[in-house]
Amino acid sequence: MISRREFSAAFGAPMLAGAGQAQSQQQEKLPPQPGDETREGRMKWWHDAKFGMFIHWGLYSVLGRREWVLEQEAIPISEYEQLAKRFTPQPNVARQWAKLAKRAGQKYMVMTTKHHEGFCLFDSKLTDYCAPKQACGRDLVREYVEAARAEGLRVGFYYSLMDWHHPDGEICLKDEAARKRFVAYIHGQVRELLTNYGKIDILWYDVAHPLTAEGWESERMNRMAFELQPDIIVNNRNRLPGDFGTPEQRITEEARAWESCMTLNGSWGYCRTDDDWKPARTVIRNLAVCSRGGGNYLLNIGPRADGSVPEPSVQILNQVGAWLDRNGKSIYGTDRCRMRYSEMAGFTRRVNTLYLQVHYWDGETLSIPGLEAKALSARLLATGEKLTFKQDQFRLLFTGLPVTPPDDPVTVIEVECDREPTQMDRLLVRGRPHRRSV
Ligand code: GLC
Repeated sequence: MISRREFSAAFGAPMLAGAGQAQSQQQEKLPPQPGDETREGRMKWWHDAKFGMFIHWGLYSVLGRREWVLEQEAIPISEYEQLAKRFTPQPNVARQWAKLAKRAGQKYMVMTTKHHEGFCLFDSKLTDYCAPKQACGRDLVREYVEAARAEGLRVGFYYSLMDWHHPDGEICLKDEAARKRFVAYIHGQVRELLTNYGKIDILWYDVAHPLTAEGWESERMNRMAFELQPDIIVNNRNRLPGDFGTPEQRITEEARAWESCMTLNGSWGYCRTDDDWKPARTVIRNLAVCSRGGGNYLLNIGPRADGSVPEPSVQILNQVGAWLDRNGKSIYGTDRCRMRYSEMAGFTRRVNTLYLQVHYWDGETLSIPGLEAKALSARLLATGEKLTFKQDQFRLLFTGLPVTPPDDPVTVIEVECDREPTQMDRLLVRGRPHRRSV
């Protein structure tokens, strides 16, 4: 029997490399989708934003063993429900997260309004299993929305379609009356979320187990979303293509709009003993790789039940934010970049300007192979210092660079080019004189 995790891995999001491409091809063949005509305009801010904060928070945060704990430890629902008594966060914790996101250079936030556990952080007329009607006594989604807006950040709602708490959540697959009830509940909650909190920027569905798009009535659900929130963007996890793809825990470029979501350690929901933190250097590299491929990076925090954010997350995000203060030009509003080839540096691009994120700074010289555009000028982004270089058909060679890296943890060089920077590959094959014959 397939476990829920395997099931969601297989069907909640495309997991195989290349699946994105298949999906985009599939999208081309699909009949028109709700939102097609307005997509370009709705997506503009998001493409420019590049970097968002994901927040996984719920009753599972009380236990601190990740968000799948109910399923993974086979906890009886009635026992799990008791966690609601212990979920009483500090006042206004979302203000801290929004401030952290702002400092980190993140432009939008996406919070779990309801995860697979079924507990709603928002006020719902459709269930009592929601924060305002339990010990917490507050609408945590309202606090979150207000906090994000106060920092000028865009607001996203994660909402899990799969629901382990709802009595029809599993049997809806085989029982049509149950399916109807369950879909009415799910659509009803999406309606509540998109009606009661003002302008919402992103609807981030998750895990469409156990139904098909027809079963979920996903097209009707998206149409409702656009009726209630004409500018909203929606992801692809209700089994429709939506506005963007959602590669998870990996970065795979897709032909369409895409966003790679990733944890900062190895866990989405708070995990007390997970100390496998990604250093700021890795986060920056990932963000740059996403930007190069025209994608976004949605990076997760898993607050504790009281709302406090594990200290390593805060430190790493602060470091990334400080780097973005100096080097944000190489990330925000950049275009897809066709440069690929260097083991020392990454590439991003805005129109004809190329940015090199130098991950391994080796002192006085740096070579970039195969740049086909002509480099006109170059400077260090952190200090503005002009750089000298030579360029021939095969090599762009910087000389006289500072011996120690001018920035930390990654130094960015900005190169003005005479046209879009592209790169030839397989340089020897293309006729570069062979070492021994020169
Ligand atoms: C998966 C997991 C879930 C997590 C999500 C984030 O679908 O089931 O726990 O919220 O990925 O993308």
